[in-house]
Amino acid sequence: MEPLDPDKLPGHLAIIMDGNGRWAQQRMLKRIVGHQRGAETVKMVVEQAHLLGIRHLTLFAFSSENWSRPAIEVRALMTLLKKYIRQETARMMRKNIRYNVIGNRGELPDDVNQALNDAIAETAGNTGMVLTLALSYGGRQEISMAAARVARDVAGGRLKADDVTVDVFGSYLDTGGLPDPDFLIRTSGEMRISNFLLWQLAYTELYFTEINWPDFTINELHKALADFQARERRFGKTSDQITKRSDPLNA
Ligand code: FPP
Repeated sequence: MEPLDPDKLPGHLAIIMDGNGRWAQQRMLKRIVGHQRGAETVKMVVEQAHLLGIRHLTLFAFSSENWSRPAIEVRALMTLLKKYIRQETARMMRKNIRYNVIGNRGELPDDVNQALNDAIAETAGNTGMVLTLALSYGGRQEISMAAARVARDVAGGRLKADDVTVDVFGSYLDTGGLPDPDFLIRTSGEMRISNFLLWQLAYTELYFTEINWPDFTINELHKALADFQARERRFGKTSDQITKRSDPLNA
């Protein structure tokens, strides 16, 4: 396994878990079997992120666009999500992990929302990793809803238009209060963002792997994190500025 520097891990890791359907189809299995195997990979990644001391893990579990899949797959995914949340809450408590959800929760079935409410309430006092599930989530939808909230606050006199800075606007997003992701992993060989965290990924390091999500192993996770650690994050500055900043003689 790749050796990792504990001081250079991403504070916030985000993942687009893709390729469940293809994994299943390649094995002549129903797509939902791929999602079920994908849920096992979720357990492994949550466990590993927790052990590594990663503060924030955000998983793209169901997009705004996923509602247009066949009804049978949507229903099966919702059932799987509910089951996962209910079954895993005890483990989250043992590991001091707090659940968080982003996305349009109004579109989720009542029983899924109930399971989420229970899990969020039960884990609310946990101080370890924050596990954010993006459910019925779309970046454009999130940004347009935030813009509508800003407009309402300006119209109501609670906010001045001139005070709408990057930070203020960011606080109106579903992710208000969360740091931006440092590292994004997408599995299954697709090299696109697919409407995920459009605002928040501005300076995120991106990593794409051919491996389908059900086949994503601890080794693959470590390989991805080692790749992250080899990168120089410049945030628009020059390489010289970045290296000098960490040199006490040039501080
Ligand atoms: C993308 O694969 C994956 C999804 C749309 C759902 C992700 C869900 C899980 C990993 C399981 C449950 C989640 C949790 C948090 C317990 P795809 O179906 O688009 O794959 P394809 O592109 O090969 O068809």
